[in-house]
Amino acid sequence: MSKSYGMNDPAVTDYVYDTCAPEDPILEAVRKRSVSGNLPRIAVGPMDGRHLEVLTRLCSAKNAVEIGTLGGYSAICIARGLAPGGKLYTCELSPAAATVARANFAFAGVSHLVEVLEGPALETLPKLTGRGPFDLVFIDADKPAYPDYCAWATENLKVGGVVIGDNTFAWGLVAAREIEDANDAASAAGMRAFNHKLAFDKRFRATIFPTGEGLTVAVKVSDGREAP
Ligand code: DHB
Ligand code: MG
Repeated sequence: MSKSYGMNDPAVTDYVYDTCAPEDPILEAVRKRSVSGNLPRIAVGPMDGRHLEVLTRLCSAKNAVEIGTLGGYSAICIARGLAPGGKLYTCELSPAAATVARANFAFAGVSHLVEVLEGPALETLPKLTGRGPFDLVFIDADKPAYPDYCAWATENLKVGGVVIGDNTFAWGLVAAREIEDANDAASAAGMRAFNHKLAFDKRFRATIFPTGEGLTVAVKVSDGREAP
């Protein structure tokens, strides 16, 4: 391959950050408030947040779902991109994280756009089906369950809707030959199955943005019901 994927040059990364200025004072404060709220420092990066806002705008999303709220950083980015009258439903397992996120939504002025649904997403998502179909589903939760979340997204996205997954390189493990740690192996298996499904399911057209951690983006191109 003559062209590399991604630019592992810190000077180019600085250039992108300086040029796009992806983290305004509100998002910067939200990141800090999540850390001081004792949440792990695993929110999406500033450029991931900008990607999410731009992708939300690109598909004119009005009805969106997020799986894995954490402190609400990515939800704020999606909420900012929603079409007028839009709504984001965000699923969070941890009540402590949901509390921090709700406070961050108020701080960022997006509370009216976002509804936090507490509990295991695989129990919450079936209850959301009646509010669909959806324009955008962003998955950033427990890695082994990505294929299950993807199955729900496949059935509940409109044609033209977008599914996005964070961390889909599994910290390089997607390409590892052998993985010793059982948790790592489960994460890698989840990501491989997720990426493979989106790449091979004829209902989707998929790509993987070469962010540091991998951002899979796929658009639903058909509902699979057309005549054979
Ligand atoms: C982890 C999870 C994430 O979603 C992420 O973006 C970074 C790290 C983690 O579980 O360690
Ligand atoms: Mg993530």
